[in-house]
This record gives sequence, C-alpha cells and structure tokens, in this order.
Amino acid sequence: MKPKSHRKSNPKTSWEPLSQWYDGWMGQDGSRHHRQLAIPAVLELLDAQSGERILDLGCGQGVLAAPIQQAGAAYTGIDLSRSLIRIARKRHGKRGRFLVGDARALDDLPQIEAQSFDAVVFLLSIQDMQPLDAALRAAAWALRPSGRLVILMTHPCFRIPRQSGWGWDGNRKLQFRRVDRYLTPLQVPLKAYAQDGTKGVSRSFHRPLQAYINALGECGLLLDRICEIPSDLKQYRGERRKAKKRADEEIPLFLGIRAWKTS
Ligand SMILES: C[S@@+](CC[C@H](N)C(=O)[O-])C[C@H]1O[C@@H](n2cnc3c(N)ncnc32)[C@H](O)[C@@H]1O
Repeated sequence: MKPKSHRKSNPKTSWEPLSQWYDGWMGQDGSRHHRQLAIPAVLELLDAQSGERILDLGCGQGVLAAPIQQAGAAYTGIDLSRSLIRIARKRHGKRGRFLVGDARALDDLPQIEAQSFDAVVFLLSIQDMQPLDAALRAAAWALRPSGRLVILMTHPCFRIPRQSGWGWDGNRKLQFRRVDRYLTPLQVPLKAYAQDGTKGVSRSFHRPLQAYINALGECGLLLDRICEIPSDLKQYRGERRKAKKRADEEIPLFLGIRAWKTS
C-alpha cells in the first residue's frame, strides 16, 4: 500500500524552536510522566521482542531508544525537528538510529522501506501531527503485514487543552472534570517561543476519539487493546486532598491504543 502522504516542500514543526527547552525538561530518561506513566504503558502495549525492528515517529530527543534497546530490539527514531534529532544522537546515538524526516511522508526517506518494521510507535506525538490520516497511513505503509501500531496520547475525551479543567463542587465535596468542547476538532496554541527574532507558539491538534478509531480502520489497522492511564504522581495536601486524589484516580490522563495491520 502506497501512502498518499502529506507533502510540503519545507515542512516544519513548531517544536524546532522549543528543542532546548524540551530537552531541559526531559533530560536523559524523560519527564516524571514519561518515566512513571507513558513509557511503561507503551512498553506494555508494544511487548517488543528481541530482534524486532521498531519505528518511533515524532521521537523528539529519543527517550524511547534506551528501553527498546534493552528489550533487544532495533530502534529507529524519526522527527521533523533537526535540533531534537541532533540532541537525540548525542544522548542516545549508541542505542539506535535517528533520522530527520516527516512522519507523514515516510516514503520520501531513502533509509525507510515499505513493510520493514514489526512495530510503529507514536509516543506523545500524534497530537502534534496534522492531518491525522496522513500520519497513520504512513505508519501503516512502514509496517510489515500483521505488524502493530502503538499510540500513547493525552486522553482526548478528558484532557482537551484549553477546553477542559478541574472544578470544585462544594456541596458534594468533590473535584470534577469539566469538558467545554469535545466533538469539534481543534488546533490549540500551547507553548509560546521567541527565537532568533521569531515569535510563535507550538500547536497541538485535538480530535475526538472517533476520529482516531475510524482513521485507524481506514488504514487497515484493527484495534485490539486500549489502556486509560490515571495520573498518580501528586503529593496530596490540604483539606481537599481526598477529593483531588480520587479525581486523579478516576479521570485518566493518558490513553494508550494498540492496533494491528490486517493486510
Ligand atoms: C511532544 S513531542 C514528543 C517527543 C517524544 N516522542 C517524547 O515523548 O519525548 C512531539 C514531537 O513530534 C514531532 N513532530 C511533529 N510533527 C511531526 C512530523 N510531521 N514528523 C515527525 N515528527 C513530528 C515534534 O518535532 C516533536 O519532537
């Protein structure tokens, strides 16, 4: 299957000017959320086997390379940001291969062959890519028949950036999650940057759950497992601590999805 890929002569990611900030936040092994929640969930869904070839799309500064190498699998990371790939090579160059490239146009990369990977991962990157179908079609193109795709993202039902948040119900003494918008796909400004005289803001793309499941199906990727991951990292203090803890335990932060290539 040839990906009808998304092609621009000079594609850019709003993460390029944020590369130093992101690397400072992530460090060698990732943020606390990466180490304690996101990476363990990806590894469980992926179940990487020795000798397998794993492709990480939107790999950033390469945090997934070490655990994939530890599983005995061969790691390839691709990111549109040159600076992040430079940092990834410095930090994790011995653990895998890192390429600058557009995840939506993998067949433009001479190093990447069709149907050559056992598994493809998007770790907290699919919500930075638009359009969704181009990214998933390219991932399906890179997968061997019966290969698997793992996506880890912030939960699209509960954590819509700028359109959801916590509230307090004083009568019932409970912390609730408010969702202001959900079904409409949104492009959300996230983090402002100023670099070399250029000002801008990074963008994230919200889509409802149906957009992900339906796009996977249209690419011949059949879903067999999801996991909804709560945030349990906080130290709870103060009189609302019980309610806050319960809300964190009940309302998931991340969503993990696994799907298999059927053709
Ligand atoms: C939130 S970061 C996550 C990076 C890494 N997976 C992690 O968990 O640390 C999102 C990444 O997606 C990359 N990205 C966005 N659009 C892309 C595209 N079309 N092709 C490749 N990478 C892309 C960005 O450059 C950025 O590094």
